[in-house]
Amino acid sequence: MIGHQAERLEELVTSSSNQDPKKSKKTRFVTITSGKGGVGKSTISSNLAYTLAQHGLNVGIFDADIGLANLDVMFNVKIKKNILHVLKGEASVSDILISVMRNLILIPGESGDEILKYSDMALFERFMEEAQVLDKLDVMIIDTGTGIGEHIQMFLNAADDVVVVTVPDPAAITDAYATIKTIATLRDDVSMIINQVKSEKEAVGIFNKIRKVAHANIGTNLDLRLVGKIDSDAKVVSAIKQRALFCALYPSAAATHDMEQIANQITSKLERNVLVTSNESGLSGLFRRLIDHF
Ligand SMILES: Nc1ncnc2c1ncn2[C@@H]1O[C@H](COP(=O)(O)OP(=O)(O)OP(=O)(O)O)[C@@H](O)[C@H]1O
Ligand SMILES: [Mg+2]
Repeated sequence: MIGHQAERLEELVTSSSNQDPKKSKKTRFVTITSGKGGVGKSTISSNLAYTLAQHGLNVGIFDADIGLANLDVMFNVKIKKNILHVLKGEASVSDILISVMRNLILIPGESGDEILKYSDMALFERFMEEAQVLDKLDVMIIDTGTGIGEHIQMFLNAADDVVVVTVPDPAAITDAYATIKTIATLRDDVSMIINQVKSEKEAVGIFNKIRKVAHANIGTNLDLRLVGKIDSDAKVVSAIKQRALFCALYPSAAATHDMEQIANQITSKLERNVLVTSNESGLSGLFRRLIDHF
């Protein structure tokens, strides 16, 4: 049933994009995920979004499952409605978007499964139309949150970069490896951030071990990359307690320096000034990809 609905959605997206050959920037979609919960996905997503926005990029941050103490807490904002309300016709896109700061928009999401259940044509058409306000985004970061199970697959498929976050704890590493194995059935490239480390050396050591096991068991086709590391830093904890972003509150902290390096890595991958049809950009582009992979 849902497959059929998705087909109808796809037709709709295709036809509406044909009618509207508007060109806009290509958005790079970066999905942040993990095996184990609580390893720093939301901390990284929010501070990365902030850092990229500070660099002058237009950034969107999509909370795949708002309300589970994720990005609303990180940005210290109150969320009343999310994307599901838009798809149900209870809110407009502009009602749910939260302008967190200059160049940075928070999009309160919902688990993917729920989203695709609502395929009322007229509402979806309106949604895609309204979502074009986000077509100017350079980067959209997707925080997958916890407990969204299999729906997460859509975000793994739809992304340009999938970043698996882990911490040095052996249980987290095991879960990260299991996640990488799953992602490898969907795509050939996976990135990693090793969070809460003592040093670069520790991060590289952990990464090399994971890569060795991955290449031996998953195969050498897998392009596993280390995007960066973040030191375990009391300033990170302190900022979270104050409901602030550590990169904003502590610009000279070690963790902030690490985040800068990660942001530079992401920025270097952006295809600047590439003009694409609007269905490849912004929020509508994300939905277009989700539907394509469904
Ligand atoms: N670099 C760091 N240094 C010190 N503490 C950290 C660091 N990164 C994360 N933490 C701690 O880990 C906690 C969990 O982080 P966060 O909420 O970002 O994880 P998460 O992966 O988003 O969790 P969930 O899976 O529940 O969504 C933070 O509240 C903070 O105390
Ligand atoms: Mg989180």
